[in-house]
Amino acid sequence: ENIYVGVDLGGTAIKVGICNSEGHLLHTFEGPTGTSDGVDTVIDNIAKYVRQIVAESPYEWDQLVGVGAGVAGFTNIREGIIVLAPNIGFRDVPIRAILEDRLNKPVKIDNDANVAALGEAWSGAGRGIENCVCYTLGTGVGGGIIINGKIYQGFSGLAGELGHISVVPDLEAIQCGCGKKGCLETVSSATGIIRMANDAVARGDRTSLSTVEKIAAKEVFDAAKEGDEVAIRIVNRAAYYIGKSMAAVAAVLNPEVFIVGGGVSKAGEFLFEEIRRVYAQFTPEPLQKDVKIVAAQLGNDAGIVGAAGLLLRS
Ligand code: BGC
Ligand code: NA
Ligand code: ZN
Repeated sequence: ENIYVGVDLGGTAIKVGICNSEGHLLHTFEGPTGTSDGVDTVIDNIAKYVRQIVAESPYEWDQLVGVGAGVAGFTNIREGIIVLAPNIGFRDVPIRAILEDRLNKPVKIDNDANVAALGEAWSGAGRGIENCVCYTLGTGVGGGIIINGKIYQGFSGLAGELGHISVVPDLEAIQCGCGKKGCLETVSSATGIIRMANDAVARGDRTSLSTVEKIAAKEVFDAAKEGDEVAIRIVNRAAYYIGKSMAAVAAVLNPEVFIVGGGVSKAGEFLFEEIRRVYAQFTPEPLQKDVKIVAAQLGNDAGIVGAAGLLLRS
């Protein structure tokens, strides 16, 4: 039996998993990224975890067809280079060549959200669906576009950077990590939600939230579910711009399903109801018909499954 290893390279953790050719996840392993120790250490860690997971599994190294990696940042997939990944501290790192050299196996890389979309399309919420768009709501807002079952790359492999669609009106817009203003990521990421909560507390708004302990996005959702008006306003604002961006994406791509994953999506129906409401508000009826907005099914594993899928499906 052939096996494929998927790597999810994030700012704090590297997750690795072994998949079979049907996209079933057989084993997983997670270790620290080691971002603060520099590029070489991070790459050493990836190679080490890949060898380790295969060694600890019932499979042989010879059964490993190749390694796919999803990276939280801008990637050049043709050259196998991480162009810019601020959270991992990578700029112009030819990771594919380095890993192929270390592991002696074919390596493919792609953006983390593209890969998550591929994972969901392969064996998650998008199974059997040819055209879907995936949002990942975490530290940043990622996006992946699946057209005819494959990741849509665009001119230079940067298609699907949905987090950097500018949606916030100029007067309310703040600067994004990408250097521009008003990006979806500034309001709909965990980071954005936490920032809005901190601002509200600092302004003295009446809320159960407090900055005595560092506020986590989950606390904002919990407070919103308890009826805290400030928290509800923040969650609705995050949902509003996701829904509004989806209306724009629908007009361009007409996908069958929007899949929403990442930590923030764990807020559940509370968030989804508002996203659907806003989507309906801004999307012409024919473009709404039979289109679904659903939660990701593979959860945190979408990235590893899709990364393994890079060897088979791209
Ligand atoms: C980056 C994307 C990434 C997303 C989620 C964004 O800030 O621009 O490349 O997919 O964060 O990690
Ligand atoms: Na993407
Ligand atoms: Zn941006």
